[in-house]
Amino acid sequence: MSQIRLNSNLSTNNEQVSIDPQKVAFTELDIQSKLLRMDQALYVVQNGEAVGVCLAEDLKDSVAGTSMSLLSHVEPMHVGQLGDPEFMRAYGINMAYMTGAMANGIASEELVIASGKVGLLSSFGAAGLVPPRIEEAINKIQHALPNGPYAFNLIHSPSEDAIERGAVDLFLKHGVTTVEASAFLGLTPNIVRYRAAGLSLNAQNQVEIGNRVIAKISRTEVASKFMMPAPARILQQLLSEGSITEEQARLAANIPMADDITVEADSGGHTDNRPLILLLPTILALREQIQAKFSYNQSIRVGAAGGIGNPASALAAFMMGAAYVVTGSVNQSCVEAAASAHSKRLLAQAEMTDVIMAPAADMFEMGVELQVLKRGTMFPMRAKKLYELYKNYESIEAIPQEEREKLEQQVFRSSIEEIWRQTEEHFNARDPHQIERVKDNPKRKMALIFRWYLGLSSRWSNSGEQGREADYQIWAGPAMGAFNYWVKGSYLEEVSNRKTVEVGWHIMTGATYLYRLRLLQIKGIWLPPACEMYVPQPFSV
Ligand SMILES: Cc1cc2nc3c(=O)[nH]c(=O)nc-3n(C[C@H](O)[C@H](O)[C@H](O)COP(=O)(O)O)c2cc1C
Repeated sequence: MSQIRLNSNLSTNNEQVSIDPQKVAFTELDIQSKLLRMDQALYVVQNGEAVGVCLAEDLKDSVAGTSMSLLSHVEPMHVGQLGDPEFMRAYGINMAYMTGAMANGIASEELVIASGKVGLLSSFGAAGLVPPRIEEAINKIQHALPNGPYAFNLIHSPSEDAIERGAVDLFLKHGVTTVEASAFLGLTPNIVRYRAAGLSLNAQNQVEIGNRVIAKISRTEVASKFMMPAPARILQQLLSEGSITEEQARLAANIPMADDITVEADSGGHTDNRPLILLLPTILALREQIQAKFSYNQSIRVGAAGGIGNPASALAAFMMGAAYVVTGSVNQSCVEAAASAHSKRLLAQAEMTDVIMAPAADMFEMGVELQVLKRGTMFPMRAKKLYELYKNYESIEAIPQEEREKLEQQVFRSSIEEIWRQTEEHFNARDPHQIERVKDNPKRKMALIFRWYLGLSSRWSNSGEQGREADYQIWAGPAMGAFNYWVKGSYLEEVSNRKTVEVGWHIMTGATYLYRLRLLQIKGIWLPPACEMYVPQPFSV
């Protein structure tokens, strides 16, 4: 019996082709190797009861072969056909694929440069870094990629406006023309200044957008702010401060705040844990409403992030209408990421269920959580314990002695007095106002002490702090486990082979491969189940 299954209602137009039977693949393995030749059209042919496949090149010189029925075919396909070509044109890239920022420089210069060298877009993990460190990264990346592509993360800092403003100052000073804006709840003068300060009119009297914004959002209310023009109130403020010109204020009133909106579903790090299959269509519908209202010349593109861990998830996003896809978690286990070897090994062993929500350092007091790895580290458990104590007690002193001792021994490995001393030292250097606010507020003091652990644990994970492995805070989402499952047994199972570019290329190539499989299914032709597996092969093969 044939390994290819045909729908009973498959309709053909009785076309016959002549082909050498030797060139037709009838077995699972042979069918798959033909399917992998994506540069070739694939034909499905029937010879009596036997159904097989062949390539365009097999048909070419087969005039003297056996006459077979041509059931169907799929065209050749390449990765550049997935997603919005305008996205690729705008950023000068080869695939509608981007790697998202990873804070504290985990998305390192090496990662961004490796991507940029082959025409892929990666966003540098500027969040959590001090301005001189960001400037160093700008210099390094611009030197290696004078014409791009690259992006820098502009993260909203609700409690430290100076940090956000300082980052924009640097981006404008050095001509960084693409930012990935994230964590914004609303528009701030900083992000509006970045956008407006890049606007001009060209010789044809058209608006030139010098500073591109890719805004990452998880909610409709934030998405709509980035899809609309900048608020007049903020533009007026910037104009009166002299930060933008009158022309820029006028132009900004007619273009959206963002060129691209990345819809972030259940992801590593900060996440609302929404399912992509629901969130993406909702934001796409919002885009249509806003486009109808403002009639922009260039419609805003909407991409997908959160849960892209294998070819099928990328293809699903494209099939729902994503202009591009963004990965995050999978890249932290790659060689270029600035995470420790120990963390990468843990990430590479993770299954999909090995992630959990745990308290976040930045918005600890508000009970905000982020998604982290739970297998191989005690961080989530210990961080949850800290939040529970914070909720239940009004001060460090109010915590029962026994609990306090446990904290000192297991979590801090030092006296609470010593931790407070280090905390004071840290904030006095960076933001003394935080220490001022603690006076007469013992609960706040407790929060700062607990945040010592939450802040350092992610740094330990990056630096590979010895003896603190059980406390590593490793941001990751379910995509990590899905990726590991997919690459099991392939060369990408081994961490030292995980290069950001190869990971991205295989996700996209696999999505392209699966697309042709789905097309055949829609036409009524079901290839053997083993063909479902796109197995990454090393680049050199
Ligand atoms: C280790 C790590 C750190 C991250 N840090 C940031 C960040 O600083 N800024 C940001 O916009 N997104 C950050 N993200 C989110 C990613 O850029 C990306 O949007 C997300 O990981 C995509 O979802 P996924 O993890 O399911 O692939 C981080 C993600 C991870 C895994």
